[in-house]
Amino acid sequence: MESIAVTGGRKLSGSVDVSGSKNAALPVLFSALLADGEHHFDNVPQLRDIVSTEQLLAALNCESSRNGNSMRIRVAPPSTPEAPYDLVRKMRASILCLGPLLARYGQARVSLPGGCAIGSRPVDLHVETMQRLGAEIEIEAGYVIAKAKRLVGDRILFDKVTVGGTENALMAATLARGTTVIENAAKEPEVVDLVHYLQTMGAKIEGAGSSVITIEGVDELQPGRHSIVADRIEAGTLLIAGAITGGSVRVARCEPAHLQSLIDKLRESGFDVHADQDSITVEEAQSWKGTDVTTAPYPAFPTDLQAQFMALMTQAEGTSVITEGIFENRFMHVQELVRLGANITPMAQVAIVRGNRGALSGASVMATDLRASASLVLAGLAAEGTTMVNRIYHLDRGYENLERKLAGLGADIKRVNAG
Ligand code: EPZ
Repeated sequence: MESIAVTGGRKLSGSVDVSGSKNAALPVLFSALLADGEHHFDNVPQLRDIVSTEQLLAALNCESSRNGNSMRIRVAPPSTPEAPYDLVRKMRASILCLGPLLARYGQARVSLPGGCAIGSRPVDLHVETMQRLGAEIEIEAGYVIAKAKRLVGDRILFDKVTVGGTENALMAATLARGTTVIENAAKEPEVVDLVHYLQTMGAKIEGAGSSVITIEGVDELQPGRHSIVADRIEAGTLLIAGAITGGSVRVARCEPAHLQSLIDKLRESGFDVHADQDSITVEEAQSWKGTDVTTAPYPAFPTDLQAQFMALMTQAEGTSVITEGIFENRFMHVQELVRLGANITPMAQVAIVRGNRGALSGASVMATDLRASASLVLAGLAAEGTTMVNRIYHLDRGYENLERKLAGLGADIKRVNAG
């Protein structure tokens, strides 16, 4: 079992490049199922979740090959359009093959993903969407079994904003007969990146990035080439790594406009942050103030940066109130941060953080989910002594060489086999 050992006390400095977005790459790769032939992708991050996606696509008769951060996927009809449990349980985003398979082959058998550490994470909105577009759905033995001669466009109104639900609806609607209007659609940059690739394949879509997206169904799509958008969550994580050490770090090859909510919060807390075309820099700070954060759908503060920002607030002067507005159990990192010496009082959806610079001291901690692991690494950068973050397979799901990137900024960090 691999762990990461990080010894705190060093100010980070320098520039670091951001990789392609995990949460854009996953739906884009699944969207390849909509068109036979050879798809080409660049800026694809090398992550465990991408490998899981390739395994699932292979089970669906697709052949993928990688060359660094480029990937080629050759798509052909599967003998059975099925996403089996042993693959889906490894990555809940596998539900994103439901829409493409149903739209392309008129049938799909996709395992229900089951829960995960941060909450129950149902897929009811995905299923209801397919029913809305004319599919017959049965849930049997833990599988979603969907059938539709041809999907028919309709009006879809999501009663809560869902990134994956919007993505599944978009992919299914591209080949449906007639027009689909998605209301209360997710506006995340990863949804916009998916739409860019669907349009490259010939889909007719208007309104990406707004809460109303209109799709004119077409009969067929063609494979194309796409470069994955930069990962705004990795960029935010690296910015906070610079901030928590009181260092000055430039995060390059990112889209500053995608991180306005974090930039605003860092400035509110007293950091000097500036951005140019494709990079964001946080300047050295001797101290910073606590500030409140509530996570909500884009463009509000992202839930995927909540744990990392909480680590920063443990070192602030004063109190911060952190409200998790998306998932029902996304404070798993709190008790681990408390083990490092943080003063945090978690309630149901709110955590009160009483900041105290220098209060953290290294210990052995347990990663529970992807972003919680990042939060513990960031806390280790600020803690006195060495912190051992265990079960970092969680981290490898969503960060490409994070420890190498941090070491490149001057961190004392390495991957170790903790036996
Ligand atoms: C995506 O998950 C991201 N994952 C998550 O990132 C991210 O935290 C989340 O969006 C919110 O931004 C990928 O893109 C692969 P949702 P998704 O559907 O699509 C509820 C990370 O760390 N809901 O927007 O699963 C759900 O339980 C991961 O990279 C239903 O009730 O999130 C949640 O409370 C973690 N029924 C809320 O909606 C449904 O059918 C938002 O979930 C679907 C969702």
